[in-house]
Amino acid sequence: MYLCLLTLVLLHNAAGFVAQNFTGKLNGGDHCVCEVLLPDSSFPAMRVGTLEDETQRLTNRVEDEMQKLEEQDIRLDAYMEKLINLTKRLERLEKLRPEGLIEINFDVLKKEIKEMEMVISQLRGRVNGSNAHVESLYKEVKNISKSVGQLETLDKNNVLKAQRDMEVLKKRLVDCEKTIKMKAQPMVPLGFCQHHGLSLISKPNLLQLNWKGAAFKSGAWGKDAAWNATKKSLYWVAPLNPDGRILESIRIYPSFNDILLYKNSIDLPLSVLINNRWNHTLGGQGAGVIVYNNNLYYNCYNSRDMCRTNLNNGVYQRKTLPNAVFNNRYSYSGVSYQDMDFASDEKGLWVIYSTEASAGKIVVGKVNVATLTVEKSWTTTQKKTEVTNAFMMCGVLYATRSVNKKTEEIFYMFDTKTGKGEQISFMMEKMSEKVQSLSYNANEHKLYMYSDAYLVHYDVIFKP
Ligand SMILES: *[C@@H]1O[C@H](CO)[C@@H](O)[C@H](O)[C@H]1NC(C)=O
Ligand SMILES: *[C@@H]1O[C@H](CO)[C@@H](O)[C@H](O)[C@H]1NC(C)=O
Ligand SMILES: *[C@@H]1O[C@H](CO)[C@@H](O)[C@H](O)[C@H]1NC(C)=O
Ligand SMILES: *[C@@H]1O[C@H](CO)[C@@H](O)[C@H](O)[C@H]1NC(C)=O
Ligand SMILES: *[C@@H]1O[C@H](CO)[C@@H](O)[C@H](O)[C@H]1NC(C)=O
Ligand SMILES: *[C@@H]1O[C@H](CO)[C@@H](O)[C@H](O)[C@H]1NC(C)=O
Repeated sequence: MYLCLLTLVLLHNAAGFVAQNFTGKLNGGDHCVCEVLLPDSSFPAMRVGTLEDETQRLTNRVEDEMQKLEEQDIRLDAYMEKLINLTKRLERLEKLRPEGLIEINFDVLKKEIKEMEMVISQLRGRVNGSNAHVESLYKEVKNISKSVGQLETLDKNNVLKAQRDMEVLKKRLVDCEKTIKMKAQPMVPLGFCQHHGLSLISKPNLLQLNWKGAAFKSGAWGKDAAWNATKKSLYWVAPLNPDGRILESIRIYPSFNDILLYKNSIDLPLSVLINNRWNHTLGGQGAGVIVYNNNLYYNCYNSRDMCRTNLNNGVYQRKTLPNAVFNNRYSYSGVSYQDMDFASDEKGLWVIYSTEASAGKIVVGKVNVATLTVEKSWTTTQKKTEVTNAFMMCGVLYATRSVNKKTEEIFYMFDTKTGKGEQISFMMEKMSEKVQSLSYNANEHKLYMYSDAYLVHYDVIFKP
């Protein structure tokens, strides 16, 4: 008895080879009779046909893919050429001096590279990282795109830097002319008032940000402004709370070097903290404060009183300023709670305010420091609410208004000697848009400005 082994190999199909073993037996003589037991009753011609079709379809697809790949290669070749062209152009660009780069149209160059990047990244998506050719092309395009970007910033920086240098030079030239003009004028001696008024204001000098920081936009600062001050080198900085109303404390510095370095400072509290609650009774209101002969003069919180605190011993006094409006009634334009603005000049201490009777026009009061009263007052022709700030020089009130973010104009003056007001025009460059306080110091012919948290000062030149 033989065992017939017969292996029938079907056509391969997608699932792989299908093999089946069949058993048979010898049946008399030399005939091997195979009894094949097929799972189906008939030969699966249908299935073979289907498989053949499937194979054909797959072959076609492979051919299609091959065709596509060939096409891609052709397109890749075209892009390769373009890339080589771009690379050459880029090399030429890189050899140019920076000045020459100004003329290059980077927009066109960038557009071309962007297009290439797009096509190649589409290709890359289709071949899915399997084509080294595409990968290297992709890397090169990325590289070239980066190079153009770098060249472009290089160019921009150069152009911008040149522009900035030009601006700086122009500004230095103007400043130089101004300085020469200022130097050419004979100086009016300090304390002397027989001159012909204001000649010009220097460019702004920025000292620093106030010690409390940028959030403290309102406030005032300066140097003891009394003509016969005992401590002429004492500086003070008074930032209001961010509410633009309350003055809780001021900080004083013994000298210019100290304020420069924020050192050796002494804080003088006005408001007091009682049982975790602020008591502002002795606190200040608004940025119209000044230090005059070692005393701080300010509008007492929530009142029409004038307050004075001695910086040496903290002794505090207050007096009502009759008829003065208060609590933000006729404050300066764009500056809140500056109903009372103290000022000092060669003639002494002044207070700039307003009354209901003056209908909001500026009233200038001469303060008698011995009695802490206004001994004489003048009503001007200028509305306080139309003025940004004001200061006194030699008994003359000067008022400013904003022209734009960078310029302030001294546009009005009122002479207490003649009792007459007039329009004038002196431009002042500003560091920042708003002017929260402005005051004059007769000991050095300087203006002190607090502008959006910054401490700024100017030199004043008079006509001899
Ligand atoms: C067919 O027989 C051979 C030899 O006995 C064996 O190796 C193979 O696995 C068998 N195939 C099937 C599908 O039974
Ligand atoms: C390179 O590209 C530029 C601009 O597209 C074209 O004018 C120039 O003929 C090209 N050069 C070559 C060698 O393809
Ligand atoms: C690309 O290939 C990664 C693995 O190499 C695979 O995970 C991904 O699904 C493929 N994406 C496409 C669109 O074929
Ligand atoms: C990219 O460019 C730099 C300089 O242009 C070159 O040295 C580097 O070989 C490039 N890299 C590729 C991957 O092309
Ligand atoms: C400064 O002058 C005022 C008024 O002229 C006077 O009352 C005061 O005592 C003087 N102060 C000093 C320190 O001389
Ligand atoms: C606030 O301080 C003033 C002056 O020191 C005092 O007279 C007043 O009683 C205080 N008010 C409160 C509510 O504590």
